Amino acid sequence: NAQQSLAEKTILITAGPTYEKIDPVRFIGNYSSGKMGFALAEECAARGAKVELIAGPVNLTTHHPNIVRTDVESAQQMYEAATEKFKKANAAILCAAVADFTMAQTACEKIKRQGESLTLELQPTQDIAAALGTAKTSQQKLVGFALETTDEHNNARLKLKKKNLDFIVLNSLNDKGAGFQYDTNRITILNNDKEFPYPLKNKTEVARDIIDFLCGLFE
Ligand code: C5P
Repeated sequence: NAQQSLAEKTILITAGPTYEKIDPVRFIGNYSSGKMGFALAEECAARGAKVELIAGPVNLTTHHPNIVRTDVESAQQMYEAATEKFKKANAAILCAAVADFTMAQTACEKIKRQGESLTLELQPTQDIAAALGTAKTSQQKLVGFALETTDEHNNARLKLKKKNLDFIVLNSLNDKGAGFQYDTNRITILNNDKEFPYPLKNKTEVARDIIDFLCGLFE
């Protein structure tokens, strides 16, 4: 059962959270650690791929020399880097937990405590997955992630279609030890025809399963 190679392939991976600046000292973020995306980057590089890793603010380091890392902070910066790097990629794996909303206007000065309440006006960010789904050629593969709290399988399937993905990896939030900050994950892979459930594993092994599935698309 030899591992399938990714030699001569360039794989774009987004990982981690984004930070949306509120004022000079505050941001809107999320609990994504970036561990799953970084594990995917190492797995692809170990199989011979050149990896373009676009990382949000995370506390992680890369190890393999074939990983080219671009650090970004905001959803807009991640969008710009990803759309540019996708042009030369054979596949993109969109693992980042991108903010869905950002500040309509970032405050130049620290917002002072005053009044009874504070309302922040937000506007939608660009959907990187949807943009790449539109730009995708018949040769390029696109993989997304879904983390749902309700009706997870139906919602994942809707995203698969809407964003024109080749497959989507559903993370379960209902499992102890799975998801965001943990070292383990339990996934289900969904494509247009089928669902493939996997047992709870550490993220290195989960990355292997996901990349095996991706390699199958190139055959
Ligand atoms: O946020 P949502 O559940 O729609 O995310 C599903 C997929 O879309 C994930 O792969 C995520 O990385 C990607 N996404 C993105 N850009 C966004 C929002 C989500 O690439 N602005």
